[in-house]
Amino acid sequence: MKKTVKDIDVRGKKVFVRCDFNVPTDDSGAITDDRRIVGAIPTINYLIENGAKVIIASHMGRPKGKPDMKYSLKVVADRLAELLGQDVIFVSEPEVTGPETKAAAAALKDGEVLLIENVRFREEETKNKEPFTKELADLAEIFVNDAFGTAHRAHCSTAGIAEYLPAVSGFLMEKEIRFFGGILDAPERPFTAVLGGSKVGDKIPLIENLIDKVDTIIVGGGRAYTFLKAMGKEIGKSLLEEDKIDMTIELMKKAEEKGVKFLIPVDSVCAPEFKNDSPSVTCSADEMPADMMGLDIGEKTAEIYRQAILDSATVVWNGPMGVFEMDNFANGTKAIAIAMNECQGTTVVGGGDSAAAARKFDLEAGISHISTGGGASLEFLEGKILPGVACLLDA
Ligand code: 3PG
Repeated sequence: MKKTVKDIDVRGKKVFVRCDFNVPTDDSGAITDDRRIVGAIPTINYLIENGAKVIIASHMGRPKGKPDMKYSLKVVADRLAELLGQDVIFVSEPEVTGPETKAAAAALKDGEVLLIENVRFREEETKNKEPFTKELADLAEIFVNDAFGTAHRAHCSTAGIAEYLPAVSGFLMEKEIRFFGGILDAPERPFTAVLGGSKVGDKIPLIENLIDKVDTIIVGGGRAYTFLKAMGKEIGKSLLEEDKIDMTIELMKKAEEKGVKFLIPVDSVCAPEFKNDSPSVTCSADEMPADMMGLDIGEKTAEIYRQAILDSATVVWNGPMGVFEMDNFANGTKAIAIAMNECQGTTVVGGGDSAAAARKFDLEAGISHISTGGGASLEFLEGKILPGVACLLDA
């Protein structure tokens, strides 16, 4: 357990709040998904209501340690002001902690909010190096980390700053830790992990960690075909990581030894080309034609997976079941999102593509928790220590 913003007196204090406002934007620079900003509002409102002087920092994109106005946080400042219903002072300086920013921080009155420029405009940020860490710390008296999405990065503004200031979590960070920590430490059983996405290689540490904790592992997405190949099935032109076959066999053996059920697709929606309008057919896992590739799980598989999810008391979902960005190969992922909504147990979506899918199908409401962290939620589920969490004071 980590201390939260409620465990520390913030009244009249300058509080540095690290948020993850790394939000997607369209070609015109407008924000296309503001969930990460919305997610930080409870912490910011609490600080305002409790008379803190609020200094907010975030990164956006990867500007390579140099000022690049394409990644300016101005657009975030505007949205934040709308959501808070009050002014947000925004200072944009190439050095991020320049004289204007320092003056604005020093002049803040209780309950006022200042957003500083993208911390990745400084090259030290991602290297967790001085003098930037000290310059950030000098702006404030308390550090609140609410940037769960960036908690897997040991950067100046996410971890380094905690060496200078008392560090506590914000409410979004607390909620993310509660859900992920809860399901990993003491899950209600049966506990099922739904693992999709394209590559097996990327997720081996995840599967290895989860095998020790779950009752069932459901596999979908492009990675399923390496599992099917390992089982001796014909997979046509489907995605295959030949060099991961041995590892896949090991994982399935380990699961069997531990009594973990492994569910692999029994059918797939296949097409000759990786295109939405490529003519598709549903093939059983035993008879995929050599000139076809699997682009989604089939209906039979979706029904088996749905039932396994409904029978679970805890479900964590990471990665789509097929190419859900293409409407003709989205049904399997949609079926999982529906089952996650219907399940009466605790359901957690591990950010990234699965969160985007739940949003695309407007199927977010019935899910217990949709993480704001993609890479961070993955590393949490892999059992790694997140520097942005480890640096916080223990409760
Ligand atoms: C994310 O979107 O996963 C976080 O904001 C971290 O971004 P990064 O991968 O550029 O560090």
